[in-house]
Amino acid sequence: MIKFTNVCKTFSVKNKLFTAVSHVNLDIRENEIYGIIGFSGAGKSTLLRMGNLLEKPTEGTIAINDSILSDLSGKQLREARNKIGMVFQHFNLLANRTVQGNVSLALELANVPKHERAKIIAESLQIVDLSDKANHYPAQLSGGQKQRVAIARAISTRPNVLLCDEPTSSLDPQTTQSILAYLKK
Ligand SMILES: Nc1ncnc2c1ncn2[C@@H]1O[C@H](COP(=O)(O)OP(=O)(O)O)[C@@H](O)[C@H]1O
Ligand SMILES: [Mg+2]
Repeated sequence: MIKFTNVCKTFSVKNKLFTAVSHVNLDIRENEIYGIIGFSGAGKSTLLRMGNLLEKPTEGTIAINDSILSDLSGKQLREARNKIGMVFQHFNLLANRTVQGNVSLALELANVPKHERAKIIAESLQIVDLSDKANHYPAQLSGGQKQRVAIARAISTRPNVLLCDEPTSSLDPQTTQSILAYLKK
């Protein structure tokens, strides 16, 4: 379903080329949970970010369900991205939006009509057991709760791919277990 073929990423730093990802081939099937392990600086984030073309490969292709991301038009790529959720280590929530406002954002960017959003937001928050925090701001939440908001936001468009970049590495072991369980759910 997700296919990385001969993927390379080279950065140009002060006129010198630096290879962050070198000739990666990966096949990830539907319903598979695939983990990437490596030392800090190994290229995990760069590889992951190429999964929705936040980072463009310098060589090779990434295909999702047989469509090669780099062949898509701007509009097609935006549509494809709506079906790829992302969860980050530092949550990346908007501080000036409430919990439901943050979840709403992904739907707004996906042009989901206003009258449909409230129901989807409520369903998404229910999945991560945060219905009671809908009107809270991120600053009023614990790290684990913030990450649950980020998960609700990532799944709100009902993506078929979820890219997670160290989603538990800033959390304590107990919260980590709970976040992994939510991701699995
Ligand atoms: N935009 C960039 N410009 C230059 N070098 C980068 C850039 N992004 C990442 N790198 C370098 O690529 C390597 C891999 O980074 P990264 O993918 O963040 O590793 P990881 O997530 O495994 O810790 C690192 O050496 C990093 O400094
Ligand atoms: Mg990283």
